[in-house]
Amino acid sequence: MSAVVWQAVMILSSYVLLDSSVQGCSPGWFGQHCDFQCNCNVSLSCGSQGDCPPNERCKLGFFGPGCQYVDLAARSSGASSPPYLFDNDETSCNPDSQATSVLYALTHGTPVSWFRIYSRYNPRQYSFHVKINGFGPYDDERQYLVNQHVVDVMWGEVYEIKDITIVGNIAPTICSIQITTGRNVALKQFANQSSVFNGAQGQASNAVDGYTSDKINGNSCVVTREEAPAIWRLYFRRPHIVSRAYVYSS
Ligand SMILES: *[C@@H]1O[C@H](CO)[C@@H](O)[C@H](O)[C@H]1NC(C)=O
Ligand SMILES: *[C@@H]1O[C@H](CO)[C@@H](O)[C@H](O)[C@H]1NC(C)=O
Repeated sequence: MSAVVWQAVMILSSYVLLDSSVQGCSPGWFGQHCDFQCNCNVSLSCGSQGDCPPNERCKLGFFGPGCQYVDLAARSSGASSPPYLFDNDETSCNPDSQATSVLYALTHGTPVSWFRIYSRYNPRQYSFHVKINGFGPYDDERQYLVNQHVVDVMWGEVYEIKDITIVGNIAPTICSIQITTGRNVALKQFANQSSVFNGAQGQASNAVDGYTSDKINGNSCVVTREEAPAIWRLYFRRPHIVSRAYVYSS
């Protein structure tokens, strides 16, 4: 069997650049080319910059400008990570008031250059450093205060991260963390493939339509005929530096 059968492709690039918007995208999409997907926690649609309605937030698994950063902490948490860290709720915090460190483990090693910490109080009052896979701190660690509750931790290079330990007196105040390698730049880009099984169903664009379900209208997958080589190919509207690609298979 050499047919390509995929539901979705997610290709992550480190930078979030929101296009200036034009009207007329179908519901659930925004941006100049309508290739940014809305990621609000209730509504399907969003504002012209991906902004969510007043009583909403980004849905689980997304954060940042226009809810475009893919949050790996919400998608790939290991058994040893306490749930308050990745429950999409910044009001549930570390129950251990004596904690001296907090460990977050991913299910598999992932290249990461920065992550975000939400604290119950102003992170400026605390000192901490970060260990990666049990080692560190690293000389190139930098901390940037984002607002009264949020601090971003960055490194000068990309490390293959299996787990992160936050060490210091900020530990008892930590409420959530978000880890990202960027946004999905595959969405709504041009794709084609060597053949399409079963007419219009199974066409190449199904892998970049934003749906990972195999049940959307019965035509959410890419399916080629059985052939060698079976090829699916993606063309970007503009170049991206890509750190990671995911393929969702049926
Ligand atoms: C959506 O987010 C808002 C604001 O944080 C929250 O009050 C609400 O419960 C959330 N709804 C769902 C369905 O997650
Ligand atoms: C896919 O599209 C590219 C660019 O338009 C074209 O050169 C190529 O022949 C196409 N491939 C297939 C298999 O249709």
